[in-house]
Amino acid sequence: MCGIFAYLNFLTPKTRKEILDYLLNGLQRLEYRGYDSAGLSIDRHLNNGVMLFKKQGKVAALKAALIDYLEDGCEGSYEDILNCHVGIAHTRWATHGPPNEINSHPQRSDPENNFLVVHNGIITNYQDIKKYLEIHGHRFESETDTEVVAKLAAHIYSQNKELTFRQVVELTCQQLEGAFALVFKSRYFPGECVASRRGSPLLVGIKTKLRLAVNHVPVFYSKDTKSRRGMEQNTLRRETSTEFTPLGEDHSTEYFFSSDASAVVEHTNRVIYLEDDDVAAIHNGNLSIHRISRSMDIESPDWREISTTKLEIQQIMKGEYSSFMLKEIFEQPESVVNTMRGRVNFKNETVVLGGIKDFIPDIRRCRRMLLIGCGTSYHTALATRQLLEELTELPVMVDLASDFLDRKTPIFRDDVCFFISQSGETADTLAALRYCKSKGSLNLGITNTVGSSISRETDCGVHINAGPEIGVASTKGYTSQVVSLVMFALIMSEDRLSLQPRRSEIISGLENLSEHIKQVLQQDTIISKLAEELFQKRSLLVMGRGYGYATCLEGALKIKELTYMHSEGILAGELKHGPLALVDEMLPIISIITRSPVYDKCMNAILQVTARGGKPILICEEGDTSTEELVPGSTYIHVPHTVDCLQGILTIIPMQMLAYHMALLKGCNVDCPRNLAKSVTVE
Ligand code: F6R
Repeated sequence: MCGIFAYLNFLTPKTRKEILDYLLNGLQRLEYRGYDSAGLSIDRHLNNGVMLFKKQGKVAALKAALIDYLEDGCEGSYEDILNCHVGIAHTRWATHGPPNEINSHPQRSDPENNFLVVHNGIITNYQDIKKYLEIHGHRFESETDTEVVAKLAAHIYSQNKELTFRQVVELTCQQLEGAFALVFKSRYFPGECVASRRGSPLLVGIKTKLRLAVNHVPVFYSKDTKSRRGMEQNTLRRETSTEFTPLGEDHSTEYFFSSDASAVVEHTNRVIYLEDDDVAAIHNGNLSIHRISRSMDIESPDWREISTTKLEIQQIMKGEYSSFMLKEIFEQPESVVNTMRGRVNFKNETVVLGGIKDFIPDIRRCRRMLLIGCGTSYHTALATRQLLEELTELPVMVDLASDFLDRKTPIFRDDVCFFISQSGETADTLAALRYCKSKGSLNLGITNTVGSSISRETDCGVHINAGPEIGVASTKGYTSQVVSLVMFALIMSEDRLSLQPRRSEIISGLENLSEHIKQVLQQDTIISKLAEELFQKRSLLVMGRGYGYATCLEGALKIKELTYMHSEGILAGELKHGPLALVDEMLPIISIITRSPVYDKCMNAILQVTARGGKPILICEEGDTSTEELVPGSTYIHVPHTVDCLQGILTIIPMQMLAYHMALLKGCNVDCPRNLAKSVTVE
């Protein structure tokens, strides 16, 4: 979805060209999130003006248009040196109004570009604000919800020119409802930048020449309605005491604002994750973080930690691969190991998940467990439900976050809710988490993104450690989520004597998982040939049951999102209740059939297909001669045999590869499928 990148260099001289390169490069790092237009704003050469540049389409198109425009010299030379400058940039994923230049961000308050803003999220009360502003003479040019933000800031400032930039933004944000991450630039406040968030992620990166003298930034409150000691206070704190000077004497600093750490890591690894309703302002090169008042319901600290992100630039580069998706598929032998690293002791057969260890006694006492997610993360819930039921003997519900919310599902204080989300920012999953929080359940996050909203707002959780997933279609994120929940199930059963043989079998499966994945990846040539046979078909079914069912849904999702072909995952047990009507000699059906208690039932379904002229393609186990005897002449993709609850990790990989090859043959963009976004931050 939308991406924000802003750059402020304070007493760190940079040419205009360097600044533009920083901004465009930042946008390119955010491309994976999905977008349909891009824009940026920098200072003009003369008259203290601000320049706005926007383009529909890719960042490359914005860059080309900028070069054409700036090379004629009217906005000053590329080589002009700017000692202190603010540039803001954005990739937009259209929500209000089609993708075009006017609707792209930055949005402006007026043709002079007095206030400019970039925005991720949705302002739900924008119609009301728009009406109010129209009554006060403001004319709107775009169809976006964001334009009201820039105009409201200008309106507030026009009422009181004594206000600081930070105060203008504070007052503006107080009027907004919905979800947002916002970064502002203003012609009235050159060299200053102010940002705020509510419900959408935003971080500040800090780069200094010397080591930072502190590892936190204090938070200041405009109105302190109640201090921590319970004393009533209503004082407005002194402005001068609120600023954070990173280095004492040496003030030269570079600041980055971004919705995503991957746009910042090549410049600095020191970042602050802003909390909801924080207003971060940079004035005279100093950063300050403000809030209107203390939150009465949550204990939030009076400081924000400057954390060191472990993300490395190589992790967000494609390396030798032609696409991020291919890289991420082939990373799975390592990513599953990283998920288990330091957690599974294969010798002693013990598992420790540091993030939840203190909560295990509470979890063991719970009434039921609920696994909640969207898309692929929901499939993780399906893939692990059976094992969790078996090893915990607790009722386990799985739910799509949006439906869970629509139903206002009853939640009790002794429920344990798991929020599964690769990005940790998915709006529906986050809303479901907030709903459960209000009901008092114990809430766990299963995420891949340190500092994400879900990881911060849950009581505890498991970081899946799969490394950044840039391709929009989730691959290694899925397999690492499954491994994480399998590890959790193992912990829940560690003191059950009768379950020890089962645990040993699973732990041994985990130990061999990486090798098994490598063997599956060797099937690439067979799978690419199969893709040639299938890519021009109109539809594709994926059928299985038991532990294979999640693979069917996830495999079908990969096919449809990457190739735009209709594809459906069906439970083999449901075949004769409807889908059988589709079967003929033309419809391709991929069947997942592995040795398990449901093998015979799966085979029955396959035979019903062949009896009607269907020619199923079989994902089966190496050495399984009986399947080939029963269904001769089919195409077989062999995966190694492993324990049932891990078999889904091995059977999904051929589906990921198939979707990838089919998409390439169809000429689709495998990293950024049309209309989709990596991080779905709107409901
Ligand atoms: C599909 C895919 C999506 C996401 C879904 C939830 O390949 O990636 O279905 O799984 O949008 O995203 P997260 O896991 O970030 O909450």
